[in-house]
Amino acid sequence: MTQSPLAGKVAIVTGSGQGLGLAYAQELARQGASVVINDVNQDTADAAVESIVAEGGKAVAVVAPVGDTAAATALVNGAVDAFGRLDILVNNAGVLRDKSLLKMTDEDFDLVIKVHLRGTFTCVRETYRYFKENGVAGRIIAIGSPTGQYGNFGQTNYAAAKAGIVGMVRTFALEMKKVGVTANAVIPVAATAMTKTIPFFQKAVEADERGEAMPSFFRHDLGFGTAADVAGLITWLASDDAADVTGQAIGAGGDRLQLFSHPTLLVTEYREGGWSYEALAEQAHGLFEGKLQTCGEKMPPLPEELQPTQG
Ligand SMILES: NC(=O)c1ccc[n+]([C@@H]2O[C@H](COP(=O)([O-])OP(=O)(O)OC[C@H]3O[C@@H](n4cnc5c(N)ncnc54)[C@H](O)[C@@H]3O)[C@@H](O)[C@H]2O)c1
Repeated sequence: MTQSPLAGKVAIVTGSGQGLGLAYAQELARQGASVVINDVNQDTADAAVESIVAEGGKAVAVVAPVGDTAAATALVNGAVDAFGRLDILVNNAGVLRDKSLLKMTDEDFDLVIKVHLRGTFTCVRETYRYFKENGVAGRIIAIGSPTGQYGNFGQTNYAAAKAGIVGMVRTFALEMKKVGVTANAVIPVAATAMTKTIPFFQKAVEADERGEAMPSFFRHDLGFGTAADVAGLITWLASDDAADVTGQAIGAGGDRLQLFSHPTLLVTEYREGGWSYEALAEQAHGLFEGKLQTCGEKMPPLPEELQPTQG
């Protein structure tokens, strides 16, 4: 019998009471890891622990709102107290406060930044502190979004947080390389509480709720599937097999896997003395012609039979 790839490892998954985080925690446990479940609600967290224990896995709950250092410290201490060590951090906790720019309040902005961006910063810092002090070649997995990669209408706060997370991951990868810790971002797409009210995905969500497979157009062409579809990538990045993969943004959803490029240069031109307004007015359009980038994710149109219906 081959040994489970994560046997003896200990993982924290933030926001793992439901949705993608729960699927990640369950799969990490299936592959042999002991898991710290984290969420803001005790009952949700306890139910998640139960679901893992019922399958023969090991899990405990640490209920704390990710964002401040106190929650990050409680998570690291929770892992060490329950299981004696820490090897893997999956920063998944998240909230949405979608509004178009003029309707978005300071509170909408600050909350989303606090949970996603500051939550990732504080949890990674405290986990890395533990890794360094204890010589652990650990794994950091942070969660981005197509919105952070491409932009999306009504998500200024979320776009800032998710693009910021991918930016931090590249920096983590540089700083952590010398001690063998990897840091990667996963860009998931899946049917969860966060996405299942989006009309575009209605037919896929309905099929899933009936216990049927989602239509292949969603799984293949849109890369939209179940939370469990993303969990394999999380588990692989957490394993020894992915020791040489760091600083990457990798997309997963349905039947699709995608490796994103870092921002790449499309045009580089030089002008002695620099680029004055006059020089740009004369040359910029010509230099950038055909090279300007579009914003927003390009979705293929839904076939007629998969269009959302009312009611
Ligand atoms: N569902 C998708 O298609 C999708 C796409 C891109 C990115 N994501 C990201 O994946 C992650 C999980 O999303 P989901 O779709 O499973 O959403 P979800 O709403 O189902 O789950 C998020 C979980 O995080 C918890 N949470 C919220 N604030 C918290 C805090 N401060 N501390 C601890 N827990 C907290 C919630 O209670 C909830 O259980 C998020 O970071 C989200 O932005 C999801």
